[in-house]
Amino acid sequence: MITGKTKLLGLIGDPVEHTLSPYMHNAAFKFLNLDYVYVPFHVKKGGLKAAIHGAKSLEIKGLNVTIPHKTDVIHYLDVLDRTAKLIGAVNTIKFENEIKGYNTDGLGAVRAIDETTSVKDKKIVILGAGGASRAISFQIMLCGAERLIIANRTLKKAFILKKNLVEKLDADVEAIDLGEKLKEELKDADILINTTPIGMYPNIHQKPLVTSEMMHENLIVNDIIYNPLETGILREALKASAKTVTGVKMLIYQGIESFKIWTGVEPPVKVFEEALAKVLK
Ligand code: ATR
Repeated sequence: MITGKTKLLGLIGDPVEHTLSPYMHNAAFKFLNLDYVYVPFHVKKGGLKAAIHGAKSLEIKGLNVTIPHKTDVIHYLDVLDRTAKLIGAVNTIKFENEIKGYNTDGLGAVRAIDETTSVKDKKIVILGAGGASRAISFQIMLCGAERLIIANRTLKKAFILKKNLVEKLDADVEAIDLGEKLKEELKDADILINTTPIGMYPNIHQKPLVTSEMMHENLIVNDIIYNPLETGILREALKASAKTVTGVKMLIYQGIESFKIWTGVEPPVKVFEEALAKVLK
């Protein structure tokens, strides 16, 4: 029940109609008997500054931030945690004396993969060089991956991300396009992550960038797309007897990390999973 003592959390973005975050967070508040409620707020580009100031005045405790605000929101925050600063994007805000920005997207992906194997000392190939790739690339290098290959349609974008990673983390990173070099690099890769929108609903039959003959059975293949749950690249992985990590896991773990930042409590993965299973079925 919402009372005068209930603490408010939420999400700002444009659009927000299809977000799955309220299902996960509100289910966990109920399960853990925490007096919080999580509400999505539709905030257009021009309204971002007012939204952050308003949230502070309303004593909202925390927000998730989604497209198109993840970068612009930084202007209106007082401090950034190290990872958010490195990535240059924020998906979680905590309002205390200061307004602090965090980024749990990369950690969400690393924890999802962690259920199968640690990224530490691994050779990882990541497809795409956009915002999601950037968050995940920084986090996997921070978590001790040995080598990262960024494969992107537009080579220049992969190079820019590589340059950033080398400058900021002195990481072992290579930038390639989607040609023959990708096949070569996959031969001894440990983990493959797709961050491109290929195969996302409604384009579920789009041909994946990597097919089964380019994979090996010790490869772990992660797609960050969760709609559909089984994407083309994951089907190719199964054909190659490789292990798969679905995108829903990243969604769950980025949410769990945000929940921890706001409440100080680690919610059970199962509660998040069951809440999502109900809406995604
Ligand atoms: P996000 O924030 O989700 O990462 P993004 O910043 O738009 O989204 O990045 C999407 C990535 O998927 C880009 O790296 C894009 O490649 P380009 O840099 O060449 O644009 C990649 N991508 C999107 N559609 C693609 C397609 N049909 N084939 C190959 N790569 C594609």
